[in-house]
Amino acid sequence: MNSKLVLLAVGIVVALVLIIGRRGDVVAPQSTSVSPQMSAVAPVAAPIAFPQATNMAMVVEPGMSAGGGAMAALESPLPNFVPRKLKVFEGHWQGMDGRLMTEELARKLNYPRGVQGVLLGEVTLNAAFSGLLGGDVVVRIDDTPVTNMEDFQAATRNVANRSEARISVIRKDNRPGTPVLRKLTVVLREAEGGLGFAQLEGAPMILPGDPRPHGYRGACTDCHPVGQGFELAPDPDLISLPPPAITRDAVTRGVSPHEIRGPCEACHVIN
Ligand code: HEC
Ligand code: HEC
Repeated sequence: MNSKLVLLAVGIVVALVLIIGRRGDVVAPQSTSVSPQMSAVAPVAAPIAFPQATNMAMVVEPGMSAGGGAMAALESPLPNFVPRKLKVFEGHWQGMDGRLMTEELARKLNYPRGVQGVLLGEVTLNAAFSGLLGGDVVVRIDDTPVTNMEDFQAATRNVANRSEARISVIRKDNRPGTPVLRKLTVVLREAEGGLGFAQLEGAPMILPGDPRPHGYRGACTDCHPVGQGFELAPDPDLISLPPPAITRDAVTRGVSPHEIRGPCEACHVIN
């Protein structure tokens, strides 16, 4: 009698262990596949657990990082987090420097709501020769409508081998008051072998602790890679190269190639 009870108890325990063990088996792989975000955050994350992103080793030579001490303090043990699928924002084609027109941008720049297309920030080269201007919103390339960056690239592919294409834009009259919009079409020409197609770019890489300088736009990693960056700092676009060392003589004579910016020693090393 007693031994039968003991056997029964042992049987129940064994059965429970098996069931729990099984469950564990089933649960474990799920938990790694449903929480990619978690594995990105955990420093011990195995790279294979992360289908949407590449964790790249960063090469940061001690003392070489831009900004010196400040950067060293910000260095994080996390690898760079580069999502596979990033929204694109910028495109470059034939001297056009364009970005996606968004509601937020329309509001900031006083375009009417609902304008869709690619806003040209800057035009140079053939784009400038064609008569395009910064501020124009590209809405059509030949017969292909353009409402976003992907359209823009696809439309440029259609004309890549041609030597000219019609570009339709919305141009805003910048006189004060309610903006007046005009639609106009210019002809873009490329003399030397084809117009080629646009190259796209995403938002810049940000540091894990960066505050956002813009309104809420969704999960940061929809648009930004996160990490120490592959960017050259300071940004060469801004020509904010570090001020060179100047001589004591230049200071006493007040010789400066630039406008008055304040006391020389605030920015320059003086030898
Ligand atoms: C829908 C896309 C999108 C989302 C989501 C987004 N950003 Fe941005 N962010 C951008 C773009 C595009 C820029 C480039 C300048 C601009 O448009 O304001 C930018 C600029 C920045 C910059 C300046 C970077 C530089 O080098 O100039 C920082 C910092 C930043 N974002 C942080 C964040 C943070 C933090 C989040 C999440 C809370 C976030 N962003 C979410 C698109 C996005
Ligand atoms: C707020 C920062 C700032 C201040 C203050 C400042 N400079 Fe400069 N200076 C710069 C930067 C940045 C450059 C690099 C070129 C540029 O951006 O114009 C520069 C370049 C120079 C150069 C050219 C050096 C070279 O080798 O090319 C001279 C000379 C110079 N500054 C003199 C002065 C003098 C003299 C003063 C004080 C009266 C002064 N600066 C104050 C930021 C500053």
